[in-house]
Amino acid sequence: MPAQILDGKIISAQLEAELKLRVDAMVAQGNIPGLTVILVGDDPASQTYVANKEKACARLGVRSTTLRMPADTTQEALEAEIIKANADPAVHGILVQLPLPRHLDSDRALSLILPEKDVDGFHDINAGRLSRGLDCVVACTPKGALHMLKTAGIDISGKEAVVVGRSNIVGKPMALLLLQENATVTVCHSRTKDLAEHTRRADILVAAIGKPRFITADMVKEGAVVVDVGINRVDGKLCGDVDFEPVAEKASWITPVPGGVGKMTIAMLMSNTVDAAEKAFAK
Ligand code: GUN
Repeated sequence: MPAQILDGKIISAQLEAELKLRVDAMVAQGNIPGLTVILVGDDPASQTYVANKEKACARLGVRSTTLRMPADTTQEALEAEIIKANADPAVHGILVQLPLPRHLDSDRALSLILPEKDVDGFHDINAGRLSRGLDCVVACTPKGALHMLKTAGIDISGKEAVVVGRSNIVGKPMALLLLQENATVTVCHSRTKDLAEHTRRADILVAAIGKPRFITADMVKEGAVVVDVGINRVDGKLCGDVDFEPVAEKASWITPVPGGVGKMTIAMLMSNTVDAAEKAFAK
């Protein structure tokens, strides 16, 4: 039987509706949540992501500022903007769009963002607290993927979860979140020997590789839950890291691309921004 769809459009719309009520309540008190996005250079994918973030802010009534900086921006100039946003009480969330041009040190830049304004959850303090199971800002894409599983009522505790990809943005935090939910977690990567042997054991399979249609049906267990984090462009069309149609014939649940995890990333960015603003205004 073909898989049920984990629909990012529906789940993110529900979440946004809840967030809108929280923003409206803040605005009624004269408190306007603010997000500053720093975009360096003119990477086309980054431009699209940032435009989608701006639209989400507009839908919710969050004040959004995008600082567009040229590709030859210096480390000092980037850091000066981060420091300015840190000090601005009207800014509750700061996001530096990645990837940065190669001459810039993104780790250094990210570590300058105040942890309480780090709505991406990329600061060492937030990443470290996540690894210890402490309250923290959680990276938007894995947080969104987990929210989809929970919304669908998918049981995670005791399940075999396999995450393919070990990035700081998705793979590592995803593995930690699944571990926190009591899954038995395996993280696979480009040096993993016999990848399919691992993926075929997965009750929950998360693909965060960045290669179009990499996960094929023979790599997936019958009845698995398949979460596709990939966003690839092939011949002008978007596709994920999962070979969607054949895998959907075997899986019990699957996220589509587009309309899956990507929608949740934006919704979770809004959620982290609203959380940060509420905490700042409560002080
Ligand atoms: N580039 C791709 N995904 C992300 C993300 O979640 N946050 C930021 N800041 N940059 C990205």
